[in-house]
Amino acid sequence: MDPFTPLLDRALLHTRSWIASLGKRPVRPTASLEALTEAFGGELSETGQDPLEVVDLLGRAGEPGLMATAGPRFFGFVIGGSQPVALAADWLTSAWDQNAGLYVVSPTVAVLEDTAGRWLNTLLGLPVEAGVGFVTGGQMANFTGLAAARYALLARAGWDVSEQGLFGAPEIHVVVGEEVHVTILRGLRFLGMGQARVKRVRADGQGRMDPDALPGVLAACRGPTLVCVQAGNVNTGAIDPMEPLISAAHAQGAWVHVDGAFGLWGAASQRTRGLLRGVGEADSWALDAHKWLNVPYDSGVTIVRDPATLARAVGTSASYLVRSTGLRDGVDFVPEFSRRGRGTPVYAALRAMGRRGVEAVVDRCCALAGRFAQQLGRAPGVHVLNEIVLNQVLVRFDPPGGGDADAFTREVIARVQADGTCWLGGSRWKDQDVMRISVSGWNTTEDDVDRSAAAILRCAGRA
Ligand SMILES: Cc1ncc(COP(=O)(O)O)c(C=O)c1O
Repeated sequence: MDPFTPLLDRALLHTRSWIASLGKRPVRPTASLEALTEAFGGELSETGQDPLEVVDLLGRAGEPGLMATAGPRFFGFVIGGSQPVALAADWLTSAWDQNAGLYVVSPTVAVLEDTAGRWLNTLLGLPVEAGVGFVTGGQMANFTGLAAARYALLARAGWDVSEQGLFGAPEIHVVVGEEVHVTILRGLRFLGMGQARVKRVRADGQGRMDPDALPGVLAACRGPTLVCVQAGNVNTGAIDPMEPLISAAHAQGAWVHVDGAFGLWGAASQRTRGLLRGVGEADSWALDAHKWLNVPYDSGVTIVRDPATLARAVGTSASYLVRSTGLRDGVDFVPEFSRRGRGTPVYAALRAMGRRGVEAVVDRCCALAGRFAQQLGRAPGVHVLNEIVLNQVLVRFDPPGGGDADAFTREVIARVQADGTCWLGGSRWKDQDVMRISVSGWNTTEDDVDRSAAAILRCAGRA
């Protein structure tokens, strides 16, 4: 027999058992650090080990240390699961082992990514010809969009940042909302634009950038200006008012980048599309497929209105690279050189779901977030702090006998995590500790929400 078949068959067995366990096992990991170190630690052997034993070790000893993020009752961070077709396509991506950097190395992946990119643009109301790159996640999608912005703004000012770098370059003013996501600031850091020199625009009670406050901040920016807006506040899910923000920024010649890691998916639904009106007018967008599209990690998407600008900002070439004029070379769309064909699972998910399927997942998650808010909010001493506009719910708990609500809220979160019915995390919102619930999984049902809400109330002593 060939050497692959027994190993892949065994990996399939472990995969099946993992997937079957997702809705039944405690959502949290059960193994201690000691047990995992005992199983996986030690010195590298001289002679190696039977590959089948290695696969078994991963399957058996790894499982207790895993979080059931792909299960139906994981509500931490903003983490979607893996829908079956995307997982299957991801397996093919690994088995094909294609280098997605050049058309000549993998015409199939080039065409899949080109098509998936166009589908995403039309689904989300973005310019259909915008350049779409498949990166590891929202962080790199933001980084890449900001790199394109930096390139374009300085080119307009007569400065080639790719050739000259930033020393002596015209200053770029960077404007962000008070509630900017940390990955924008981190991207600015990497790009030499500094995170402390941003100008912040005040946000409203839900974290939305205030459009009335933007013109005053822009007035203080003379020269190249980058404005970063947000679709989907990481705590509340709130979406910045795109239309007035983008038109004010463009009136001053600014580049507008949208961090839409999860909130941009709202543009795929008739119910939430209105919240994003005008988003297609921006210049670059960041999106995560491993969040609401529910494809396996890692999968982010960077989108830039003008593909030539994206290529000039991040692309590269060398004499030994066979470039394909007029065809898609992946290296022109992302900062990576060699990489896996991670657009393939995105393509498969979009093809299998169609427009209606994506819309249904978005709508279901939003409705389930509303169900959580209703069930928790009607209990005494339990407060839902945000408007449920998307899939996020912020909850705060008064201690039954009075006292420190911050400490009690943290205590309830720890109890829920240990209980294992579901898993969620905490955050700080308006200087208060909160429980943060994100409904992002394709497989979460009303029953999962009801069971989880009951567990949360039980842990808060409100059952
Ligand atoms: C608004 C926003 N931007 C960016 C990111 C970063 O995405 P990733 O974790 O995929 O790098 C997140 C992740 O939660 C997010 O919510």
